[in-house]
Amino acid sequence: MTFQFLCILVLTALAFGKGQSTTSIISEECSSDDLQGLTSFKSAISYDNSGRLSTWVGLSCCKWEGISCDNATGRVTEINLPGFITQEGLVLQTQMQGSLSPSLTLLSSLQVLDLGGQFGLSGSIPTSIGQSLPNLQKLILFSNILTGPVPESIGKLSNLEELALHENNFSGSLPPSLGGLKNLKILFLYSNKFSGVIPDGVSNLTNLVQLDLHANFLSGKIPERIGDLQGLKELDLSDNLLNGEIPNSIGNLSSISVMYLDQNSLEGPIRFPASPDQLPLLGFLRLQNNRLSGKIPPTFGNLVSMQRLSLANNKLEGEIPSSLGDLLSLSELYLDGNQLSGQIPESIGKLSELIFLSLRDNLIEGPLPQLSSLQNIQTLDLSFNSLSLLSIPEWIAKLPSLSKLYLAGCRVEGEIPEFLQGTPSPIQELDLSSNSLSGSIPTWLGKLSLLYSLNLSRNSLDSGIPDSISNLQYLGVLDLHSNNLSGSIIRVLEMESLTYIDLSNNSFSSGIEEVDSEEESRIRFLNLSNNLLQGKLPTSIGKFKSLQSLDLSSNKLSFGLPEAIASLGSLMTLKLQKNRFSGEIPDEFLELRKLKELDLSDNLLVGEIPKVDSENDRKREKNDFDMPNPTT
Ligand SMILES: *[C@@H]1O[C@H](CO)[C@@H](O)[C@H](O)[C@H]1NC(C)=O
Ligand SMILES: *[C@@H]1O[C@H](CO)[C@@H](O)[C@H](O)[C@H]1NC(C)=O
Ligand SMILES: *[C@@H]1O[C@H](CO)[C@@H](O)[C@H](O)[C@H]1NC(C)=O
Ligand SMILES: *[C@@H]1O[C@H](CO)[C@@H](O)[C@H](O)[C@H]1NC(C)=O
Ligand SMILES: *[C@@H]1O[C@H](CO)[C@@H](O)[C@H](O)[C@H]1NC(C)=O
Ligand SMILES: *[C@@H]1O[C@H](CO)[C@@H](O)[C@H](O)[C@H]1NC(C)=O
Ligand SMILES: *[C@@H]1O[C@H](CO)[C@@H](O)[C@H](O)[C@H]1NC(C)=O
Ligand SMILES: *[C@@H]1O[C@H](CO)[C@@H](O)[C@H](O)[C@H]1NC(C)=O
Repeated sequence: MTFQFLCILVLTALAFGKGQSTTSIISEECSSDDLQGLTSFKSAISYDNSGRLSTWVGLSCCKWEGISCDNATGRVTEINLPGFITQEGLVLQTQMQGSLSPSLTLLSSLQVLDLGGQFGLSGSIPTSIGQSLPNLQKLILFSNILTGPVPESIGKLSNLEELALHENNFSGSLPPSLGGLKNLKILFLYSNKFSGVIPDGVSNLTNLVQLDLHANFLSGKIPERIGDLQGLKELDLSDNLLNGEIPNSIGNLSSISVMYLDQNSLEGPIRFPASPDQLPLLGFLRLQNNRLSGKIPPTFGNLVSMQRLSLANNKLEGEIPSSLGDLLSLSELYLDGNQLSGQIPESIGKLSELIFLSLRDNLIEGPLPQLSSLQNIQTLDLSFNSLSLLSIPEWIAKLPSLSKLYLAGCRVEGEIPEFLQGTPSPIQELDLSSNSLSGSIPTWLGKLSLLYSLNLSRNSLDSGIPDSISNLQYLGVLDLHSNNLSGSIIRVLEMESLTYIDLSNNSFSSGIEEVDSEEESRIRFLNLSNNLLQGKLPTSIGKFKSLQSLDLSSNKLSFGLPEAIASLGSLMTLKLQKNRFSGEIPDEFLELRKLKELDLSDNLLVGEIPKVDSENDRKREKNDFDMPNPTT
């Protein structure tokens, strides 16, 4: 009785379910090509934490998440599965892993393919894409792990408006057929491994608004007719291997507002100054520069919409054209690292919107024109030119917005001028290194309450460090190396904000033995080498947990090496040579797993180098322990 009743229920349910799905199949089943293409796509995806692919069941593919169809033909027109999902104002980052199925070419009515920012898609662009997807308008595959070339057939996609393949592992040369994409507005190929030349045909893409090829291995010249891209607003060719002269036609890019032709890397527009925190430690992978040569075409002055211009780190020579003063919208100008000569044109003073100006590392001569109308300038870097300033012009200290001033290697003499304490905007970064400054580090320095970075290295300063330095609660970077400073360094070592300290090559005589802090220090880089420090290295050195590089070499430190050094787990460089350390090397040193460079030579150490077990460690011991005679 009960059994029969159940059977009937099940049968009814089946019949009902079947009837319903039959009707929906008739009205909403999608084309078998689309279905097959999408099903193959899904089956090549091994992981999708957005949950969208889990809705891809049944035959009504137009109802699946991320799929749009044409109402009239029922064909799939869009696959929108970006990694970033905006939901009620929140942006979620999701991920897909797997390979990009070549079967996507079955979706012959596709207009939009957006799989950008999934981070986990591998494989390549199907070679037949040009023939198979003739209606494609957007091909968005950025931030994945795709490889291989851009297929030649891409040139057939005459409706393509957006091609965003950036941040992948694509390689090979750019197909000349790119020049056939007459409707292209956005071409983003940056941060891949493309090589070869920029095809001349790119100059045919007269609808382009944004062209970004930075961070590849592109070589050869900038296409002569680049100036034909009249609608271009943003051009970034930086960080490639481009050479030759900047074509004159560039002066015809009358809509341009951002232009980067420099060598810089992947970190966005404001890339200077590089944080010194990361500089010396990580060995910094520097990709090779563009090598643009010749002069800056005076036609640049026509580009009156330009807001950001970088020509940094090339081989440009000749004078800075005074027509640059016509770029009245300019807010950032980077000309550093070239061979520009002559004087700074007075017309630069007209750039009242200018926020950032770097002319560092050129051959620019004096006299410096008075640029006091740069009302908005925040960062001014004139370091390492042939300026021979002799003194810091007082008008610089009166610039109303200035907060970062770099005048290294400008032949400034005399004492650090007092007017720097009264600038209208608080100074955050001050670099007066590699000059001939003499006298003392002024006490008023303690009033620069927002100071973050101070570089007075390579001068002839000969005082102590004023106690007032302790007032600088934001000071992160302090470089005073190669002066003749003396006295105690304890104040500096106790400052909680500092991450980078270079006091090397001075005459400091005390302080290290007094370190007795309870707090864990944030210092990552500490160089006290070439001083007159004496006494012992206290156990409290173990509190400097963030240290990656410690150089105490060429001092007069003595007594044993504290075991506490072994607790500095981040240490990569440890230089204690040329001191008077005695006793044995503590076994605990073996715990310094990240150590790449260790120098204990020229001390009074006895005993053996601690024994190590693993292959790697043995290799390290052989290569890097620099001890002339460890067993005496
Ligand atoms: C297709 O139909 C849906 C709902 O009927 C409508 O919202 C959409 O705008 C239509 N799309 C086109 C391209 O006609
Ligand atoms: C790109 O390829 C290089 C080797 O050529 C590899 O080391 C790197 O991990 C790859 N990157 C991605 C995102 O797949
Ligand atoms: C670019 O345009 C020129 C002149 O119109 C033409 O000769 C050339 O074939 C075009 N190049 C491409 C790749 O379309
Ligand atoms: C700039 O454009 C004008 C007018 O379109 C043209 O005559 C001139 O040759 C172009 N200049 C360069 C250097 O391409
Ligand atoms: C300070 O300036 C010198 C050049 O004068 C430079 O070598 C050094 O790296 C700078 N220090 C920091 C922390 O940037
Ligand atoms: C140390 O400083 C002196 C000048 O004070 C300089 O001549 C010398 O080159 C510096 N040594 C190092 C290793 O930087
Ligand atoms: C450094 O200062 C000390 C006094 O603190 C002085 O004896 C020495 O001559 C100075 N060295 C140089 C190179 O000026
Ligand atoms: C510390 O400073 C000295 C002299 O200024 C320099 O020769 C040495 O390379 C520096 N040590 C490290 C680890 O950077």
